[in-house]
Amino acid sequence: MNNDNYEKQSIDEFVKKFNFDACVSDVLKSIESDNERIKDLVISKYLKLSLSGKQEEDILDYFINNSVFSAATLANPSTSVVTEFLYDPKASSPIDKYFFASKGGAAILSRLIRTEENLHLLIDEHLKDGKVLIGNLGGGLGRDVVNVFSRYYRENNNVMAINVDKDKNAIKRGKRMAEAGGVIDKIEFPESNFMRYKAKEKFNIIIMVGVLCALPFDTCVAILKHIKPLLAKGGSIMVSNVAPKMLEDDPFTYFIMSNIMGWNLIFKEEEVLKSIFEKAGFIWEKSFTDDFGFHNMGIGKVKKTFLKYF
Ligand SMILES: C[S@@+](CC[C@H](N)C(=O)[O-])C[C@H]1O[C@@H](n2cnc3c(N)ncnc32)[C@H](O)[C@@H]1O
Repeated sequence: MNNDNYEKQSIDEFVKKFNFDACVSDVLKSIESDNERIKDLVISKYLKLSLSGKQEEDILDYFINNSVFSAATLANPSTSVVTEFLYDPKASSPIDKYFFASKGGAAILSRLIRTEENLHLLIDEHLKDGKVLIGNLGGGLGRDVVNVFSRYYRENNNVMAINVDKDKNAIKRGKRMAEAGGVIDKIEFPESNFMRYKAKEKFNIIIMVGVLCALPFDTCVAILKHIKPLLAKGGSIMVSNVAPKMLEDDPFTYFIMSNIMGWNLIFKEEEVLKSIFEKAGFIWEKSFTDDFGFHNMGIGKVKKTFLKYF
């Protein structure tokens, strides 16, 4: 029995109704020119109309076959392949181009740029007290550290980093990136789970970007508590989390990521991130965001030991 029932959907009406950006219209029109049924099914899914299992699978299959970004996300939502894809866009399919053009995609690149600026400031602050060792936990390729080192600290032997990631391919690619940036002598790349990582030396700065976004509050607290002993007294921590503004300002991108690719994020306001820091025993100092306000980046310090007694 063929139960492939669906309603015809007008792209212009859909985009107007939800006040979507032009890139939503562009991607739907390109899908329509290739496969009108899939376009109708995607809009129907957004409108929460009932779809059969086959229709759901056909949408997913279309995205996997027509977008490198979608296939990579489905295979492993938290892979650095996905973030790297947005840092250095090269793919040419219309769906992949949509991700580059969307606010959600642009915010990831902006997060990298703001992270690098703030990391540079933190390093300079800590350099006043002596040598600086950075721990980039879940660092992926370590692009942020590589860029900052190769821009500002190539000749400075007082700044070093350890980029910890459990993904062997991220580690391999990171080493190549550091080599190309002329800073391979300043960064170690252990392939390791940072929850089991045994540091030989304490870090002066820990950064954790794009790691907590899908995790619930209590898990985030547990992770930060667990890594706290890796930080030296007076050390700084910089941690990112996705903010609710992404859902408000770019719901179509999140719809693709979560409803089609199955990547669910836990959006946290700045106050929630602050509370995670405090519950884990850090002093909250300040935060910054990417240019879209889609990611909060908290900066804190490890509490001085004597505070325990007051
Ligand atoms: C979305 S990527 C972000 C990479 C990088 N921090 C960035 O901002 O581009 C998340 C990375 O965290 C790594 N990761 C997640 N949990 C980890 C763990 N427990 N130990 C080591 N790496 C982890 C993943 O392998 C992945 O490379």
